[in-house]
Amino acid sequence: MKKALITGITGQDGAYLAKLLLGKDYKVYGLIRRIVNRDFSNLEYLGIDKDIELVDGDLTDEASLINVIKTVKPDEVYNLAAQSFVGTSWDQPLVTSEINALGTLKLLNAIKTHWPTAKFYQAATSEMFGNSATDGIQNENTPFHPRSPYAISKLFAHWMTVNYKESFGMFAVSGILFNHESPIRGKEFVTRKITDGVAKIKLGLADEIKLGNLDAKRDWGFAGDYVEAMWLMLQQEEADNYVICTGKTHSIRELLDVAFQHVGIKDWDKYVSIDPRFKRPAELHILTGKNDKAKEKLNWQPKVDFEELVKMMVDADLKRLKK
Ligand code: NAP
Ligand code: GDD
Repeated sequence: MKKALITGITGQDGAYLAKLLLGKDYKVYGLIRRIVNRDFSNLEYLGIDKDIELVDGDLTDEASLINVIKTVKPDEVYNLAAQSFVGTSWDQPLVTSEINALGTLKLLNAIKTHWPTAKFYQAATSEMFGNSATDGIQNENTPFHPRSPYAISKLFAHWMTVNYKESFGMFAVSGILFNHESPIRGKEFVTRKITDGVAKIKLGLADEIKLGNLDAKRDWGFAGDYVEAMWLMLQQEEADNYVICTGKTHSIRELLDVAFQHVGIKDWDKYVSIDPRFKRPAELHILTGKNDKAKEKLNWQPKVDFEELVKMMVDADLKRLKK
């Protein structure tokens, strides 16, 4: 039985990845840090909360990581833990860097020193590209120009992952994933904020959604599809980095169109207001990925399209709120 260690097990991707690996007969270990109000709702939502072996540790605490690596002796390590909200990274740049940048380095070092045969996956991000692509399309060769403390911290972790592969021969890959969403997406991210808000408006529980920049465009996919790509990257002969995306981009206005229309509201203007608090000091205007390499080498492609994704999320929020 293969053993996988997932950091970020309580997050969106951690839960979907754990479900995928359990279905492939892995023994799944999830790293849990000490916080006051522990929340396993994502694992419960997917019906796998009883199936994970929880191990104590924090990405900022190297001793705990060494201990976990020595105890678990994993075949595969998926480093998904992060301060993952871009907006917060301007308010808390040091915490963001401690976790995302130095935390990844500590984990890489623990593996290199104590269990170097483990294959390592790093959760890198399309945020690293910033607005650098003149045609607005990004692939593995697009230059990086990070536009937030979050993106900078992730770029450090990305290059450390590459460096540990090149310097020490570790099987270390960096998956450059574009935005991916699901019914268990955190409510601070714009997709879920909108689907939750639309469901509340439909049920008479709210009358407004406050948003920032409605003109931003993203290449949104389904988290359930994207975790499969993570697993595939670690099953290859050679460690390599891949862009994972749908190749299609949509604005927040289109997201609002689909979400409101799904509950029978055509004119959403009166329910949406602009609040400058949700605008960012530096914006990433458009992301559209090109997934040719993943299609060719991993034989991966997304299954859920944008409209299906938004409707799935609205339906899930309606169901949850009705309960
Ligand atoms: P998420 O829902 O925000 O989950 C983040 C996870 O990290 C949580 O389980 C959290 O645990 C854990 N964590 C945070 N700080 C930690 C620490 N110091 N030690 C141990 N665990 C810690 O994120 P996600 O959407 O699943 O994303 C997974 C990863 O992919 C992240 O690294 C993100 O930056 C990256 N990524 C995401 C996307 C996307 O669109 N979703 C795209 C590209 C890259 P607690 O429960 O303790 O808070
Ligand atoms: N969160 C949020 N809230 N975003 C808003 C709002 C709002 O009220 N109004 C407009 N937006 C815009 C943001 O300015 C941004 O341009 C876009 O909506 C998407 O914001 P988020 O959903 O917060 O995601 P993100 O693109 O910043 O970051 C996500 O994707 C990255 C991959 O590209 C996160 O999951 C990151 O962790 C991930 O790396």
